[in-house]
Amino acid sequence: MPAEARGRAIALRALLHHHAHRYYVLDAPEIPDAEYDRLFQELQALEAAHPELRTADSPTQRVLGRVLDGLAPVRHAVPMLSIQTETDTSAAGAEAFDARVRRELELADDAPPVEYAAELKYDGLAINLRYEAGVLVLAATRGDGETGEDVTQNIRTIGQIPLRLQGGPVPPVLEIRGEVYMRRDDFERLNELQREKGEKTYINPRNTAAGAVRQLDPAMTASRPLSFFAYGLGAVQDWGFLVEAGATHGALLDALAAFGLPVSPDRRVVRGAEGLVAFHRYVEARRDALPFDIDGVVYKVNSLELQRRMGFKTREPRWAVAHKYPAQEQVTRLNGIEVQVGRTGKLTPVAKLEPVFVGGTTVSNATLHNIFELRRKGVRIGDQVIVRRAGDVIPEVVGRYVEAPGPRPAYVPNFHMPRQCPVCGSQVQREKGGIDHRCTGGLFCAAQRKQALLHFAGRRAMDIEGLGDKLVDQLVDGGFIRTLPELYKLGVAKLAGLERMADKSAANLVAALEKSKTTTLARFLYALGIRQVGEATAKDLARHFGSIDRVMDASVEQLLEVNDVGPVVATSIHTFFAQPHNREVVEQLRAAGLNWAEHEGAAAAAAAAPLPLAGKTLVLTGTLPELSRDEAKALIEAAGGKVAGSVSKKTHFVVAGEEAGSKLDKARELGVPVLDEEGLRRLLAGAG
Ligand code: IVH
Repeated sequence: MPAEARGRAIALRALLHHHAHRYYVLDAPEIPDAEYDRLFQELQALEAAHPELRTADSPTQRVLGRVLDGLAPVRHAVPMLSIQTETDTSAAGAEAFDARVRRELELADDAPPVEYAAELKYDGLAINLRYEAGVLVLAATRGDGETGEDVTQNIRTIGQIPLRLQGGPVPPVLEIRGEVYMRRDDFERLNELQREKGEKTYINPRNTAAGAVRQLDPAMTASRPLSFFAYGLGAVQDWGFLVEAGATHGALLDALAAFGLPVSPDRRVVRGAEGLVAFHRYVEARRDALPFDIDGVVYKVNSLELQRRMGFKTREPRWAVAHKYPAQEQVTRLNGIEVQVGRTGKLTPVAKLEPVFVGGTTVSNATLHNIFELRRKGVRIGDQVIVRRAGDVIPEVVGRYVEAPGPRPAYVPNFHMPRQCPVCGSQVQREKGGIDHRCTGGLFCAAQRKQALLHFAGRRAMDIEGLGDKLVDQLVDGGFIRTLPELYKLGVAKLAGLERMADKSAANLVAALEKSKTTTLARFLYALGIRQVGEATAKDLARHFGSIDRVMDASVEQLLEVNDVGPVVATSIHTFFAQPHNREVVEQLRAAGLNWAEHEGAAAAAAAAPLPLAGKTLVLTGTLPELSRDEAKALIEAAGGKVAGSVSKKTHFVVAGEEAGSKLDKARELGVPVLDEEGLRRLLAGAG
């Protein structure tokens, strides 16, 4: 056996011990779970290849975790097991589990599909709740599985957990197992408060929840917004339900819900591998819309009788498996920090990363938000950093990753924001008391001009097809365009001279420019790129004032009369139109032929307000929770939209329900926004 393998095994064991302690005992991990799993698996593989390397104290050989000094130890009446994890995040992971179950139950190939209870894998802290005669008498953490910690005082502060079971009759002893977790919105709010108080912010909901449960002072726990979901049982005495013929895990959760315990509604009873795969897909599509973090789903054989027949391995039941999703956090190297200039001149530090596959795509840039966030995270060029990408959210650097704690290898200077705009050289200013740095160059700054043009041409603004970033780069860098109105002076001759611009595409662009001239006041207002004016505000302004002249001449007081417009927005609009050059831009655009219907006064404007889905094409797929397909179609059409049968680049939205299939995949591929029924309803109400 090579000395190299032995050395690596020793190093891996030391690393895993260190990180397991940080994670299980101190609740302060330094690495993402996926990285821990990777190290664990590397050691497992090494030990499998060289069994003589396996030592009794290897982290692969025992359940990890240790009791802290301050909390009293509790021996579990029934050990708290862990669960086997399927890390193949594709459908094959579910198929492998179903095949294993069928084999162990010795089912014939033509035997009917096995029924499963499928649920979410919550990312929090496992808790055992002991109820005697219906009263909560003890709450304990998992600890090492045999012995946990008494956290009864803390758990009693969680409003969601009943102190006495409802309904009846209740068994004399009933232990309920579940997960304490923190919702994302609660977590954000907590961090907001911390920031206001000038105190340190928390890294993620999981660790914050775990830390809160294991506080020594219950008043501390009470001040943290915690939630709970029940998912199983511990010790039970005399509960007739469990021995009824045909008792299932699904029915068990219903019974727990009837006792007053929170049970997630996102669970299904499904049949066979197909049902598991469909559930996995369904939850994956909704993952980012859930109010809390999950790292996978859990499948359990539904029949309690079959569960008993299958039994347990040392650490885990044979009848359950956790099926993971691609990790939303990964570790990579921070190669550099660049400063980008946005449309409004805001300077954003952007991390240039060693490309890494995370959250389903390869990421090489991630935002560092602003200089204060960057400082707080304490990352420097050359560091290994944790990158997070969840759903459609912009990838971000969470913090520094330290495999082996210690100082940085060499002196690395701290990063500072430049004093001059990296694009145009204008002075950079930080607003008094603000956190953002801004370039003062305005439209003189090529970066701001480019972003302003791209925003102006965007689908939700003037919708100029074919005016993408490559072309905008050429137009601005080549000095063809200095102001927005010059866009409409571009002719085929001038355009065709540009790189990668055939006569045909030049003609298409000119046609698209021509077409964009007929628009709506709301789109035009939005396209101007006034700070603080998003689509919704632009619509409100158009509806309220009915004409561009009225908007331009409105005082701050008059602007404040508009729905949802507060002092910050009103001042921003007023300041924008107080600049003569901005008024000139509006005049020149009108002179170039831009036109829209103007209305006299708010009432007329409201009457003629465009239908919320006018000009929009939607595609329906899967089964929606409440609306039938015909109902959904009727509602969309009544709101001025069209329903198409297949997804293309022209599709504005895909509305996906349960068991959505290839249309959903296609939407993702093309980057078409995907909505659920709730999202559709918001769109119909005009808030989309
Ligand atoms: S069942 C005997 N169901 O995953 C099977 N565990 O188990 C025991 N977890 O830390 C677990 N969501 O806290 C089960 N729906 C779920 C779960 C779940 C999260 C956690 C559990 C434990 C880990 C491994």
